[in-house]
Amino acid sequence: MNNQIKEVLLSEEVIKEKVKVMGAKITEDYRGKDLIVLGILKGSVFFMSDLMKEIKIPCKMDFMAVSSYGDATESSGIVKIIKDLDFEIKGKDVLIVEDIIDSGITLKYLMKYLSARNPNSLEIACLLNKPERRKEELQVKYLGFDVPDYFLVGYGLDYAENYRNLPFVGILDEKVYKK
Ligand code: IMP
Ligand code: MG
Repeated sequence: MNNQIKEVLLSEEVIKEKVKVMGAKITEDYRGKDLIVLGILKGSVFFMSDLMKEIKIPCKMDFMAVSSYGDATESSGIVKIIKDLDFEIKGKDVLIVEDIIDSGITLKYLMKYLSARNPNSLEIACLLNKPERRKEELQVKYLGFDVPDYFLVGYGLDYAENYRNLPFVGILDEKVYKK
């Protein structure tokens, strides 16, 4: 698996440090609030579980599953909800946790969809951001790293459902998807 990775972009240690800082910030900002941490499956799972352990106040967890990619490396632009929330979020403080923002289409859609349910607040925590690729304007309150426009895998990120279990974020070798 590792010989399909061109370069390690973010090591386990670097990610861990950043997640700690993000968790501390969220802890302060949400003290006394009714926090629901909402992970977007499946890419956010590793980030979400590490982040939640760094949030030192009571909170609940929920998940949604959406799809916009298929097996391609470019977004289709169409967002489909595959699994909706379990919790009622009216009056709650919802923090969406996502692995990476690319075009921004997925999160833009989710923000609109979730706002309609009248949460008390709705914010985004995202590990990675590809600013060069943005098509939709988005306010991201908690951001880990800006990254260059390469196709990345690991720490939850996949290519055709593989590589999620790598403990680091790496650049996928082009020979894997350009045939
Ligand atoms: P967006 O709607 O274009 O912002 O796409 C966001 C989703 O695309 C993320 O949640 C990822 O699942 C996927 N994605 C975007 N860039 C990458 C990447 O470099 N590697 C793996 N998945 C990616
Ligand atoms: Mg995703």
